[in-house]
Amino acid sequence: MNTTPNTTPSTFPPPEAVAKSAWVDAEGYARMYEQSVKDPEAFWGEHGKRIDWMRPYTKIKDVSFTGDVHIRWFFDGTLNVSANCIDRHLADKADQTAIIWEGDNPAESKHITYRELHEQVCRLANVLKAKGVKKGDRVTIYLPMIPEAAYAMLACARIGAMHSIVFGGFSPDSLRDRLVDCDSHLLITADEGLRGGRKVPLKKNADEALKESPNVKTQIVVRRTGGEVAWTEGRDFWYDEEIAKVSADCPPEEMSAEDPLFILYTSGSTGKPKGVLHTTGGYLVYASMTHQYVFDYKPGEVYWCTADVGWVTGHSYIVYGPLANGATTLMFEGIPNYPSVSRFWEVIDKHNVSIFYTAPTAIRALMREGEAPVKKTSRKSLRILGSVGEPINPEAWLWYHKVVGDERCPIVDTFWQTETGGILISPLPGATTAKPGSATLPFFGVQPVVVDNDGKLLEGETEGNLCMADSWPGQMRTVFGDHARFVQTYFSTFEGKYFTGDGCRRDADGYYWITGRVDDVINVSGHRMGTAEIESALVAHPKVAEAAVVGYPHDLKGQGIYAYVTLNAGEHPSDELRKELVTWVRKEIGPIATPDLIQWAPGLPKTRSGKIMRRILRKIAANEHEALGDTSTLADPNVVTELVDNRMNHG
Ligand code: WT7
Repeated sequence: MNTTPNTTPSTFPPPEAVAKSAWVDAEGYARMYEQSVKDPEAFWGEHGKRIDWMRPYTKIKDVSFTGDVHIRWFFDGTLNVSANCIDRHLADKADQTAIIWEGDNPAESKHITYRELHEQVCRLANVLKAKGVKKGDRVTIYLPMIPEAAYAMLACARIGAMHSIVFGGFSPDSLRDRLVDCDSHLLITADEGLRGGRKVPLKKNADEALKESPNVKTQIVVRRTGGEVAWTEGRDFWYDEEIAKVSADCPPEEMSAEDPLFILYTSGSTGKPKGVLHTTGGYLVYASMTHQYVFDYKPGEVYWCTADVGWVTGHSYIVYGPLANGATTLMFEGIPNYPSVSRFWEVIDKHNVSIFYTAPTAIRALMREGEAPVKKTSRKSLRILGSVGEPINPEAWLWYHKVVGDERCPIVDTFWQTETGGILISPLPGATTAKPGSATLPFFGVQPVVVDNDGKLLEGETEGNLCMADSWPGQMRTVFGDHARFVQTYFSTFEGKYFTGDGCRRDADGYYWITGRVDDVINVSGHRMGTAEIESALVAHPKVAEAAVVGYPHDLKGQGIYAYVTLNAGEHPSDELRKELVTWVRKEIGPIATPDLIQWAPGLPKTRSGKIMRRILRKIAANEHEALGDTSTLADPNVVTELVDNRMNHG
């Protein structure tokens, strides 16, 4: 028996040094939260003023979560997002660094001031205009983590075009689907990306995608590596040559608060990825306000979020939130373990980073390398640590706190989604006592509720499905081109409420503990994948008859991808075929969808009506063979016995 007393505390109050100087303390949080939910109109009417409006709003909130569902905030106001992120800082911060860019190669970095940012964005905006892009058009961005990605976002915002960023790790087919779905006519890419010393053939992928995206007439190509690329005259243009031809002056377009700002595709439990649409005013108010309060951002501090701009975290917390606040935001091209596993900590020392925001999967991977690679760096500039993307296991939380933060830095475990635009549930560093593994309490204006499977509201200490009872300004407004799907996906499961798709527990202190997705979405290294997407990629292979994909617990990734595959009659399982299928899925979707395990399944467990019982497949994948539950409704219970036997032989 282990008799060592457990001396690790289970709660972590805000360190005094942080609480003393924070934007809000515990009492301030309680007061502001109460005001925000008692009188949302008054609260947001006041806080909406944190950004600059061309025409001030007089209408604050118009929301219905029932029927056709509509969500409008600050809706008679007008503004421009790029003017808020750049121009309004020029008076007093023109020479302050807006973006610190740290290259994949540690010898490469640069500082971009707000003045330089202004010039770059204006020039690119003028290029877009010259190529025929107009207010309301869609521009797709397929770039690595280079400053041009931020310029491109802000240039679109400046002229009122919607951007749709496609993560550089997605395949040509995934890029094509996203180009076609939103009918982009212009694509911005780079010759090649650079990650961990390896080249990513972005232009080659893009050319591939453009073969089947006939409406894309223009491709603008950033020279990143100088690598050799194919060229289509009349369609392809070098970024540097184009921006040199145009004026450095481009007045910002006046946009309505509810005009679209961007589309970002995300995976759901069914069908193709959906184009999540965010609009202008509410999104910017919410991104900037959460950035200030959740990270306790103070003027002059260097803030670093390690996400890629291809994900929503990069949109809200590398670009829009920080720049709206006049912050210095660090943009990192590389990966945590190149050239060594000390890279994150070295970058923190190199650039004096105060606030560091990363994902549990990265923390777990670095934790495996031991303390030495961390301890050889100083990290004394660090003040606040953040986590996002998946539940953080207490072990990783404690390591982050002790080893990375030297027990000085509060950790904010931020729960949110592509759909929510900004952070919904998180500690505030100077206000909230943290509990490792809990996202803790709602941000201002956010009203989480827990319901059972019948939609009954559960009170007090409980566990169930996490919904939001009312809107917040950063909420998505629709699915691009498919409002019915928006209503169906988020508002039909539990009438009158926004359903997150997550399960959660609420403890006796009212703290929220996210337990993971309760739908057919899996979270692999903080990246969201629809199991249906991977299944349809698998069955598109000529040798595959049927496939079922589930998540299973994975030490580093949080969840791994487990695929059950039934082959066509006459086909035979082999290690070669297994490899072929893995390569196939990577090609169809991208490396992030790489199956971790493929199990050959002579048959899949189905109900008599033909529905695959994923509950059982999840248990088998997790090696929880004793807990399979009721299998009596299966059409053929023998299928399960066979799958369990195979799984066990798998080891
Ligand atoms: C899903 C949303 C929001 C930025 C990154 C992911 C999971 C996210 C947490 C957290 C537990 C989390 C949820 C959510 N998730 N943050 N702090 N604790 N789970 O955005 O790709 O839209 O994924 O990520 O399951 O639904 P996303």
